[in-house]
This record gives sequence, C-alpha cells and structure tokens, in this order.
Amino acid sequence: MSKSKHILFLPGDGIGPEISNEANKVLLYVSQKHDFDVEVSDRLIGGIAIDEEGSPISDSTIEIAKESDAVFLGGVGGPKWDSLEPANKPEKGLLKIRSELDLFANLRPSMAFPGLEDTSSLKKEVIEGLNILIVRELTGGIYFGTPREIKSDSAFNTMIYSTSEVERIAEVAFKSAMKRGKKLCSVDKANVLEVSEFWRGIVNKVSKKYPEVKLEHMLVDNAAMQLVQNPKQFDVILSSNLFGDILSDISSILSGSIGMLPSASLDLNSKGLFEPVHGTAPDIAGKSIANPLAGILSIAMMFKYTFANETISLDIENAVEKVLKDGFATRDIANEKSKLVSTSEMGDLVIEKLK
Ligand code: IPM
Ligand code: MN
Repeated sequence: MSKSKHILFLPGDGIGPEISNEANKVLLYVSQKHDFDVEVSDRLIGGIAIDEEGSPISDSTIEIAKESDAVFLGGVGGPKWDSLEPANKPEKGLLKIRSELDLFANLRPSMAFPGLEDTSSLKKEVIEGLNILIVRELTGGIYFGTPREIKSDSAFNTMIYSTSEVERIAEVAFKSAMKRGKKLCSVDKANVLEVSEFWRGIVNKVSKKYPEVKLEHMLVDNAAMQLVQNPKQFDVILSSNLFGDILSDISSILSGSIGMLPSASLDLNSKGLFEPVHGTAPDIAGKSIANPLAGILSIAMMFKYTFANETISLDIENAVEKVLKDGFATRDIANEKSKLVSTSEMGDLVIEKLK
C-alpha cells in the first residue's frame, strides 16, 4: 500500500471553520471509499492565529505546510482585525503561505452548474454551458513587489514581474488550454503599464511553443466587461496577480454564487493549497447557512491536481451535481422551489450521493 498522504487543514476565520468541517468530512469519506490513505491535521491561520499565536501564521505552521502533501484553507480575515496595519492583517498569513510554498499558479474555474442558471444575476442564455478557467499569477506582481511604503502624505506599491515569473505562469496557462478548448486570453493593461507590455512580450514568446493554442490579448477593463457581457467567448484566461483577483470575483458570479467556486494554488510540482474563492463572510459566520460546496469542490481539485486522481475528483464533482439536481440548496443558491439546507446538511447530502 502506498504511503498515506498528509493533508493540513487551515480553517481560519468567519465561515472558514464551518466550510472546512464539511470539506474534511467529504475528504475522509471519499478517501475511505477509494482506499486512498490520508492523514489530516489542523493549525491556525488568519485572525484567530493573531489572537492565539501572535501572528497570522506561525513559522511552525509554515513548516508543517511545507511537509504536508496538500493544504486546505477555509478563509482569513474579518472586521475584528480590519484596523490592523496591512503588514499585520490576517490576510498576511495567506500571502505568506502562498509565497513560502511558492504557490505561483492559481487556478480558478468558473462553470455554470445545471439547475443554478436562475441563481445568477445574468440571463440564463448568457451563462448556460459556461466553463472558464482563470490562471492567475499568485506570488508576484503588485501584491509582493518592493519597494512599498505608506507615509503620512503618500503611499506606493510596485507592480513588477521578471521573465521567469511570467514564463512559468504562461506555461501553466498554455498547458491548461491544450487540455481544454485550446483558446487563451491573456489579460493586461498594456496600453498604460510598462509591466503589462513586458508581460505581453513574454506571453507571445511562450506561445510559439504552443502553435495549436489560439492566443488573444485583452485589456483588463475590456475583459471585465466581456466577462459579464459574453463570458462564453473565453476558455482559459491568463492574468497577473491583481487583475486575476478582480476578474475571478466577477467570473464567480457567473456560476450563480461565489459559494460554489473552488480554487487551487500550485507550485512547480503541483503540490498545492486548495481553498474556496469566497471569503470569510463574517455576516453569516456561525449560523450554519454558508455554502460548503466551494470547499468540497476544492477537495475535488486537490485530488485532480496534487494527487493526479481524476477518478476521485470526478466522484466528488458528480455527487455535488446530483445534490443540486435534487433541488437542495443553501441560502445563497436557493430559489422558491429549493429544498433549503444548512451547511452541515449539505455536506451530509454530498456524502449520501457518494455512497
Ligand atoms: C483571494 C483573496 C485574497 C487575495 C486576499 C484575502 C488576500 O481576495 O484569494 O482572492 O487578494 O488574493
Ligand atoms: Mn480575491
């Protein structure tokens, strides 16, 4: 029997722990079902780590994350910590683990789920059959660029990319496109920013290795508009850290609810951190009404990308689809006809369908 995989859970703040519970339940069930040996542990990150350990992520947690085979993260942040300086905020814990583990490739799929077409604020025909993958650079750009400073009468950040940083994320995007619809749209602001002009040049160079992929460049303002006007024109979208952050929130509502969408953040060896795209939703935390499906689908991504186990990944995705088809819904995706369920009931239902 193969060595068991160690998965570190970092539930974090707000709805993070509720979501992580359900993801954990599904992980344990599905791995038992498929004889896939896992060991699970958990540690603190975010606001709760600031309160209990004095920093948004401790060095020992980073060490455990490095030794683990994969990491699951719930979410970080909340009003309680909003007044802290940027350098000490809960979000720093997430940025630090991304950077320390070199998780440069952030994959954020967005798809229309059958049965949820009416939940989206967009017309059914605009989103029906939609399937987009945003490939967001995650450990560079303006999020991490130096110098950065806040002074009393001015402040600045630095948007910087090196050749190798753009090359490696472009490679991920082209390879993803090869496995999908062979269309890639690289998003930038090359009409204004030097860093974008540079980005575009490198993406063009990498594209020579992938002649089958149809490459297009789009300015980020236009891309934001196109995403809500005609999202089905896209297959894979490649973007820098900040632009990808913004575009992935936009694309998440295309599927009906941000509560549905998972993400993977991968290093060069496809080891990764898996988390819902949504935040900590402090307004609904602790009420057991949050949608755990983004978290559960993040576990599916863990099997697909880190463990290269498409069978288990598809098993989870199919179970989620069946639950939705049966009309079960948490509040965020409910309509008049839905059978309204709680966070933990939704997790139970997914397990039920896995049986
Ligand atoms: C995300 C989040 C994070 C980001 C925050 C919490 C630092 O918005 O994962 O999209 O900006 O990357
Ligand atoms: Mn975001």
